[in-house]
Amino acid sequence: MAIRSILHYPDPRLRQKAEPVTTITPEIRRLVDDMAETMYAAPGVGLAAPQIGELYRVFLVDVAGDDEPSDLHVFINPEIALREGTQVFREGCLSFPKVSEDVERAARVVVRATGLEGQRFELEADGLLAVAIQHEHDHLDGVLMIDHLGPIKRRIVHRKMLRRED
Ligand code: NI
Repeated sequence: MAIRSILHYPDPRLRQKAEPVTTITPEIRRLVDDMAETMYAAPGVGLAAPQIGELYRVFLVDVAGDDEPSDLHVFINPEIALREGTQVFREGCLSFPKVSEDVERAARVVVRATGLEGQRFELEADGLLAVAIQHEHDHLDGVLMIDHLGPIKRRIVHRKMLRRED
């Protein structure tokens, strides 16, 4: 396993659309291992493969609290089959260090995906888990949290990111 470097906005690679995984090869398993290590080290509650420059439709989410056992979900080729209601949550993103902004998303989602063993599964989520799933799913299509902000907030975050040293 290895900690990989996370791309930061406005890196153009974050805007690319990721490709479906056709077979769960040892390389994909290694990618998932690296993503998990990178996400936990950051620390973050979610990470999508494009954030480390790998254009695969893969993301991980673990919204367990620090004092709870880990609850890692691996989503390969995910599809959000249902979105219901709305909720506003103060979101962060590992590609936007030190930024947190209110984002409106669906309150409840049903997501279908393939797991690491190749099994298709369906998961119903609400609250923070639903937020994280929608946020990470966006990354697979090159959509970023800044895209969900109004024009003024978007400008502020954009300029803040351009002023960063790294
Ligand atoms: Ni993100």
